[in-house]
Amino acid sequence: MAEKARIGVLISGRGSNMASLIAASHAADSPYEVVFVGSNVPEAAGLDLARREGIATWARSHKGMKRAEFDALMDAELRAAGVETIALAGYMRLLSPEFIERWQGRILNIHPSLLPLYKGLDTHARAIEAGDAKAGCSVHIVTPELDDGPVIAQAEVPILPGDTAADLAARVLIEEHRLYPEALARFVRERIAA
Ligand code: GAR
Repeated sequence: MAEKARIGVLISGRGSNMASLIAASHAADSPYEVVFVGSNVPEAAGLDLARREGIATWARSHKGMKRAEFDALMDAELRAAGVETIALAGYMRLLSPEFIERWQGRILNIHPSLLPLYKGLDTHARAIEAGDAKAGCSVHIVTPELDDGPVIAQAEVPILPGDTAADLAARVLIEEHRLYPEALARFVRERIAA
């Protein structure tokens, strides 16, 4: 098989989506490998898992730094690791326009709603509050606007009577873990073929 695409994953917390991306990369026919995990939260739980997997990690708090300054540091780390495509996986910080410009078309994000509905935070509570019959998750290409940019994959789940935001988040998360590795694999295969 040809060279695998080199993926850098950025996280801010638990890292369960990162874990699903790494797990899927272990399949012999995976078109990508995760070579770098970065975080703006040094105590993010997902970093330990990445280290246990033997993946290079980089973490630094963004506090007290200008957004563009922090992102330039992260950019240098990603390039030094030979990253080709970035997967945001619960990276809860807006990226600077300069960073997005440098990685144009090569940053994916997973968002827990059926975009373009419910950009931003508290997606599940907002979907329940609105009386929606369904919710879900979306994988999209990152552009400078928050949770905007072309959607490349989506999965739906029903909203059931009596659901709390936590119930719904758990149901959507199962789909996130299935959808993101599949969407990333398709994305890099299409890029390799292009
Ligand atoms: C996931 O549900 C992801 O979709 C969401 O944060 C959670 C991270 O969980 N991302 C966003 O809301 C981005 N706007 P994880 O750290 O266990 O992957």
